[in-house]
Parts: sequence; structure tokens; C-alpha cells
Amino acid sequence: MLTSTSQVETVTSLTQEDRALLVKWADGSTSKFHYIWLRDNCPSPESLHPNGQRILETASIPLDIRPRSVELAGNGDVEIIWANDGHTSRFSAQWLRGHDYTLPSRMKPQNPLKLWGAELSQNLPATSYGEVSTDPQALRAWLSLVETYGAALLYGAPAAPGTVLQIVELFGYVRETNYGRLFDVKSVANPNNLAYTGLALSPHTDNPYREPVPSLQLLHCLSSSVDGGESIIVDGFKVAETIRQQEPQKFELLSTIPVRFRFQDKEADLSAEAPLITLNSRGEVTAIRLNNRSIVPFDFEPDLMERYYAAYSTLARMLNDPEFQVCFKLAAGDLFIVDNQRVLHGRTGFASSGSRHLQGCYADRDGLYSRLRVLEREEEIRD
Ligand code: OGA
Ligand code: ZN
Repeated sequence: MLTSTSQVETVTSLTQEDRALLVKWADGSTSKFHYIWLRDNCPSPESLHPNGQRILETASIPLDIRPRSVELAGNGDVEIIWANDGHTSRFSAQWLRGHDYTLPSRMKPQNPLKLWGAELSQNLPATSYGEVSTDPQALRAWLSLVETYGAALLYGAPAAPGTVLQIVELFGYVRETNYGRLFDVKSVANPNNLAYTGLALSPHTDNPYREPVPSLQLLHCLSSSVDGGESIIVDGFKVAETIRQQEPQKFELLSTIPVRFRFQDKEADLSAEAPLITLNSRGEVTAIRLNNRSIVPFDFEPDLMERYYAAYSTLARMLNDPEFQVCFKLAAGDLFIVDNQRVLHGRTGFASSGSRHLQGCYADRDGLYSRLRVLEREEEIRD
């Protein structure tokens, strides 16, 4: 049966139950709204500030609050006068439908994430710097790629020092750390980090020894005339879901046993502990934290040690499996950004002849998502 939007958002009748109001809609469905929830979400100016923030203290509402009267107003609004203090709450049918919690699936926004493996190489999420820096729609599209794939490339930015900071300013804020606002990634004598050598780096997330971990990392290429030094990215969520399916017992260990990471040099001593795979209360993977360079010696109980190594090796081998990897070589001016709690990055080793110089910096996802939502809003207003 086809139902129009107006039917879905039209109330046909109201029934008062003991603790909740039943709302019948023109499409034949019924939703239940508890009285305490309705009072809590009253949009009257005494309850809700025009800026959308709640003035009413939720805990001040009597748990057994009941209506004195409930009425379907002429314009289709639902009007409630409360028995305890005579306050009036008025809800539009459209608002009630938009916040209906009777059918949870209708409420949930579509999960925007797309998991990927090597096939993403055919269709790299990439845009040009020229577009992104001048056209808000192109910036919106690029930030959406970061949300969907957890990674995106930007071609053809100026190959000038400091450009990576200007790119962050297009969508958010630099996260300064002990490595500075930005850091130079090139081979140096006496490196405090293997990143500053020509060694290959297996896929990793950055700074797992920090709490909170920076949620975005950018790497911008200033020069690249060496053999090797190709970039590798891997969707950690895809790998985690594959392990969950194929080897549930290993997944259980990886998502429950905490591992400690540490970084020490002359100025810093950073340490944090977490499972390599973080799950939320619904069991969904929300973060990957893995960097083989900086794990401190495992100190699990002896019974667990070999089982954990087996799980760890499975995860690490999959991250190094070309089936899950996307590889590309940054040219001078190019940049990539990764969601550092989802997509792991690495590089192949490179020769000492020629030069390779990247500049990197960290930022956080909240700023990026906020900018994305505002750009989406502006585009909707224009449409
Ligand atoms: C890093 C890193 C990769 C590269 O500095 O964190 O992973 O391509 N570098 O040099
Ligand atoms: Zn790194």
C-alpha cells in the first residue's frame, strides 16, 4: 500500500492510556508516547529555549504526571493540559512522527558507512584541492567521502610547507600534540619514531598511546622522488567484521582484552590501554586501535597468552593482506586524510636516494562532522 507523507504525518485519533497516549495515524499505524516523555519534550517557551536547548529540568517532572485533558486541535496539533499544574503542551503531528519511538527502525538514521576492501582502488574517494578550497559543494562532497569511507584523497594542493594546516582549517581544528601542530615525516638521524626512517610501516592507527586518540590524521606530500614509499590504507571496520564472521572466538579476544600502548622520548611519556577493537553497547565496532611499534609487552595471564597471539596474528595478517588494502603513491601536493579510529594507514619502505618529505597533522571528527552537517543544511536551503 502506498502512503503519502501527509497521511503518515496526520493524526486521526487519540486514546489516553494509564501512562501513555496512543496516537493513531492516517496510514493506519499507532504510536505510543509516554506522558512523562511528552512533558519532557514540551516545546512551550517556558520549557524549551528558542535556541533548541531544554530549559525544563527533566527530574522536576512528577514521574506519574497525567493529562487533565487531551485534544486534537483544528490544525492537527495534539494539545495536552497537564493535571498537576495546568501547563499546556502543544505538539505538531509532524514533530511527533519525526520523534516516534514506537518503531525504532523508522527513527534511526541510515548508517552512512560503506565498508571496503581492495576494490576501492578502482574508485578512489578523491577530489581536487582546487575544487574543495573554492566550492562549498565540493567541500561537502569531500567531507562526505571521509564520513562514508573513513578516508579520502585530495589531489594537487600546493606542495608548500604548512599547507596541511590550511586544509584542516577548511573543516575543523588542528589537534596539537607533543609532535607539534604539524610534524615532518622524513628520514632523520636518531629518529624518535620509526615513521622518521625509510622503513616500511605496517598498517596502523596513529597515537594509540593517547587518550583520547586523535580521530583524524592528514598526511600531505611535499616531495617524493624515491623508489617505494607508497601509501597503504585498510578499512579496519571491514577487517574486524570479517574476523567476527570467520573467527568469532578471536574477535571476542580482540574486542575484550585490553592492550597497553606507550610512547617515550626525552620530552614525553604517553600511555593508554584499550582492546584493539572497541565495541559500543549494541556490539557495533566503533574503533580500531593498533600500532605494532608501540605495544608494551603483553602481561595477560599465562593461559591467555598464546590464544591472544593467535588472534593478534590473524588481525595483523589480514591487515597486510592485499585483498583488504588500497595502495597509492602520493605526488608532491597530494594529501590523504583518514579516520584514525577506523582506517589504518601504512607505507612501503623507501630507498635512501632521492627525497621523500610528508607533513602530517591531527584533527578531530567532531569538527569535520559539524562542518559537513552545516554545509548539507546550506545546500538544502538553496535547493
Ligand atoms: C606516520 C606515517 C606514513 C608515511 O607518520 O604516522 O604513518 O607514508 N607515515 O610516511
Ligand atoms: Zn602513521
